[in-house]
Amino acid sequence: MLRGMRLDGRKALVTGGASGIGAAIAERLAAEGAEVWVGDVNVPGAEKIAGEVNGHAIELDVTDLDAAKAAVEAIGEIAILVNNAGTDEFGFFPTTTPEQWQRVIDINLNGVLNCTAAALPVMQAASYGRIVSISSEAGRVGSKGSAVYSAAKAGVIGFTKVIARENGRYDITANAIAPGPIETPLLMGALGLGPMGERLIENMRSQTQLGRLGQPFEVAAAVAFLASDDATFVTGETLGVSGGLGMV
Ligand SMILES: NC(=O)c1ccc[n+]([C@@H]2O[C@H](COP(=O)([O-])OP(=O)(O)OC[C@H]3O[C@@H](n4cnc5c(N)ncnc54)[C@H](O)[C@@H]3O)[C@@H](O)[C@H]2O)c1
Repeated sequence: MLRGMRLDGRKALVTGGASGIGAAIAERLAAEGAEVWVGDVNVPGAEKIAGEVNGHAIELDVTDLDAAKAAVEAIGEIAILVNNAGTDEFGFFPTTTPEQWQRVIDINLNGVLNCTAAALPVMQAASYGRIVSISSEAGRVGSKGSAVYSAAKAGVIGFTKVIARENGRYDITANAIAPGPIETPLLMGALGLGPMGERLIENMRSQTQLGRLGQPFEVAAAVAFLASDDATFVTGETLGVSGGLGMV
């Protein structure tokens, strides 16, 4: 099989695909032959990326279970679900509000539950599925200024393991990826905090063994691997793509 066509014809939904890591994932999956749906609350952004990858844009707020079900229904035989939509509201924990906690948990954790719940019945009926959820090294080692985000991302890792346990008999794999600091609008948004944001990013950069920030395409390559038949016996894992930031 040609490496470039590992995902030939498979239908894939990439949530949060309008920007950053999600856009790179959409591009990589399409380059490997997948038929890609770019789902995002940012519809013009989703349309732009969908146009670039010869895929489809779909309006999707991952915090809304009905919207997730409608998206899966529109796609039909979804083979690959990439739970990528996420956000953070940086700040030391005592300075953050319950409203912020709720938003961060809703998008980063409940969004994964909603989209997985929507996709699983279709995957179970087909006896095939690949679920890849973008967690974070923050969920494994904890990230200063991101307490609730770290909690939500840790939740994604636990959830992924149970989905892997419950669905192996359907040939459905579920894996997570733990990126380190990746140069995207989300991370660089911390610069809006001024010197504290600069320190947060510099701190993360210096904790990588490679001494640099990662790029979205480096996460996308790991997603393509886990979604492909090169990873048929890999499930319940969390793969760090973090320049060694999270190694123990
Ligand atoms: N950038 C990093 O350093 C980093 C590190 C670890 C993990 N991550 C994770 O990677 C994923 C992608 O992050 P990114 O850095 O590319 O961020 P980004 O801000 O560039 O992109 C996030 C995308 O998610 C979309 N989105 C937000 N809320 C949504 C919702 N309710 N429903 C649907 N779409 C929604 C946004 O519109 C945007 O297009 C996130 O889960 C993030 O937590 C990022």
